[in-house]
Amino acid sequence: MTRNLIARSAATALLALIANGASAADGAAIPQRVEALLRQMTLEEKVGQLHQLSDKEFITGPESAERRNLESDLRAGKVGSMLNVKGAADTRAVQAIAMQSRLKIPLLFGLDVIHGYETIFPVPLGEAASWDLEAIEQAARIAAREASASGIHWTFAPMVDIGRDPRWGRVMEGAGEDAFLGSRIAEARVRGFQGAKLGGTSSVMATAKHFAAYGAATAGRDYNAVDMSDQLLYETYLPPFKAALDAGAATFMNSFNTLNGVPATGSAFLQRDILKGAWGFKGFVVSDWNSIGEMVPHGYAADLSDAAAKAITAGSDMDMESNAYAGSLAQLVGAGKVDVKLVDDAVRRVLTKKFELGLFDDPYRFSDAQREKQAVNDPAHRAAARATAAKSMVLLKNDDGALPIKRGVKSIAVIGPLADARRDLEGGWIVKSHAERVVNLVDAIRAQAGSGTRVSFAAGCDIACAGDGGFAAAVAAARDADVVVLAVGESWEMSGEAKSRADIGLPGRQGQLFEALKAAGRTPVVVILAGRPLVFENVAEQAKAILYAWLPGSEGGNAIADVLFGAVNPSAKLPMTFPRHQGQIPITYQQYQTGRPVTDPRDVLYKSGYIDMPNTPRYAFGHGLGYTTFAYRDMKVSQDTMKADGKITLSFTLANTGAVAGTEIVQLYLRDPVASTVRPLQELKGFQKVVLAPGKQQQVSFTLNRDSLAYFNRKLQWVAEPGRFELMVGAASNDIRLRTNIELTD
Ligand code: GLC
Repeated sequence: MTRNLIARSAATALLALIANGASAADGAAIPQRVEALLRQMTLEEKVGQLHQLSDKEFITGPESAERRNLESDLRAGKVGSMLNVKGAADTRAVQAIAMQSRLKIPLLFGLDVIHGYETIFPVPLGEAASWDLEAIEQAARIAAREASASGIHWTFAPMVDIGRDPRWGRVMEGAGEDAFLGSRIAEARVRGFQGAKLGGTSSVMATAKHFAAYGAATAGRDYNAVDMSDQLLYETYLPPFKAALDAGAATFMNSFNTLNGVPATGSAFLQRDILKGAWGFKGFVVSDWNSIGEMVPHGYAADLSDAAAKAITAGSDMDMESNAYAGSLAQLVGAGKVDVKLVDDAVRRVLTKKFELGLFDDPYRFSDAQREKQAVNDPAHRAAARATAAKSMVLLKNDDGALPIKRGVKSIAVIGPLADARRDLEGGWIVKSHAERVVNLVDAIRAQAGSGTRVSFAAGCDIACAGDGGFAAAVAAARDADVVVLAVGESWEMSGEAKSRADIGLPGRQGQLFEALKAAGRTPVVVILAGRPLVFENVAEQAKAILYAWLPGSEGGNAIADVLFGAVNPSAKLPMTFPRHQGQIPITYQQYQTGRPVTDPRDVLYKSGYIDMPNTPRYAFGHGLGYTTFAYRDMKVSQDTMKADGKITLSFTLANTGAVAGTEIVQLYLRDPVASTVRPLQELKGFQKVVLAPGKQQQVSFTLNRDSLAYFNRKLQWVAEPGRFELMVGAASNDIRLRTNIELTD
């Protein structure tokens, strides 16, 4: 062997030793191991690390390209990650093929574990209504425990898109309309999925998605263009992403939409200037399903090769399912159209995560059939799902104490198309349905009502409710019942991705089913199941009680019954505004005063109002009732003025003035009445869940600093301008109980 060949082979052997030698625990060695491995890689092998393919059975997007021979690509090291491979056995088998490649670089297995893996929790928007950060973190923790035992390294969650348009089906996957609440929930979900530190086999990498502003799709139509000011982007749509990053999110996923004319996956402004530049993100960005390829139909790339060049340049590290990188990136580098440094940077980011997960030490460490069996059948997980579901359900209305249903009542009629639903309760974006394990509402009511209570059931119609043929039987079933429970709403397929609705009313003639029961003198308690805010004016006006149960997951039926019978006192609050009519959309609690505010809804002449309905929503952000009442008293501030580096503590007394223990989510709002750009009438700046026994009271405090008063000005500077600020504390954005003013002096 010539000298340099011997030297090179010795060097290669040494480098291979370093790359595969030190353990994952020795985090300090990871950069060196990455460099050592990178130096051994051919350009094709580097491109392979940036290529992600879906398992062919279970795809979660349009089939974007012919399916090349997957096995030979895996063996050749041409695939860096797969999504939708599920289970310890399958992930182990696919990994074994990849480990036959020259450099034995393990695959990353990604999956949409959005609200549970086998134990399904409420859809994320429902979970957000709990405002319970511990419960939300625990739900993600349980999902991670089940998924990681099944060979999953990486979940494409949390979805942290702000959603202010309920026509957009994907509001179901997020945390609602508010940046502050959305940021706290993003942090909780990242902590839950990833645990204290990546590398443990009961944690998975999180993904902050969809970067960015996907929730502002024009007209609420999925995948549509997004146009917004940089100020609104910075102030409302970016904060939950920054919160996820600060909580340690390992990866980001970009979005299908254009932002002000540039597809997110081709946006260096988003992915390099903001994410990897200003925010210093060290993880990697995966494109959303074929979003790179979709730059061609967007009209931003001439062809797939052009798209590949634009995407890698803009900071999209891994290509999900467009084959743009696999098909063109090596040629583009060879032709000098793409600098290999861009490829190396992307590959470094991906390899670093694989080292951090310990996959080079043991590529199969997550695929553990024994642990999988134990995790997915852990009864504690279902108990947590039931408790979290009950904490998520919002009691919108409860006139004359219609709820809770008194035990011992003689007969209950459970009516409606969702009354015996099972699969629908699980919601969309689940990995595997176990509808057979879901207890539907009728059975849950039967179980809790006790043997002395006769429980009858009549669907009245199916969910589409196109006809009223079953109404008579439903009315008959209701006629002689002491209590009538009507369960209406959406099927699981009516919300989620590609499920925008122009009409967000109760589907079909479900509203008429309510009318038929009312006309027969049997006005029901109404349970609404949906993945988004709906419009249901006739029900809202006439029902005595309405419980919004979202799509509550595996234990949803039991959880609804827990609330209906008072075993759980509802405490949830709306994370998203409910309009009276879709004509009010976009509608959020962060309204602006305008130059012509409506002070009296009867007088809108030359005022910023509608001539045919009030500006106010049907149910406001932060709204939610319980079975007890609370009084807010004696607000104090530590001082009336705040210096630039100072802080102010606001405190007040909260008392449970009802007859049963309860939890109140107290909310703190701020208004900056005069500023260099106009500010909304309210901004959520804090919240606390307070549990109180009947008759008890407690001091509640919030501490504000200069940051609490700041906002992004026209120059996108984060500033707090001297002047007066209004502080509001209450039970909802439209239920302010205490107010005070403070002054920022410099
Ligand atoms: C989908 C979704 C994204 C998901 C990905 C993989 O199209 O937009 O949220 O994570 O593809 O399934």
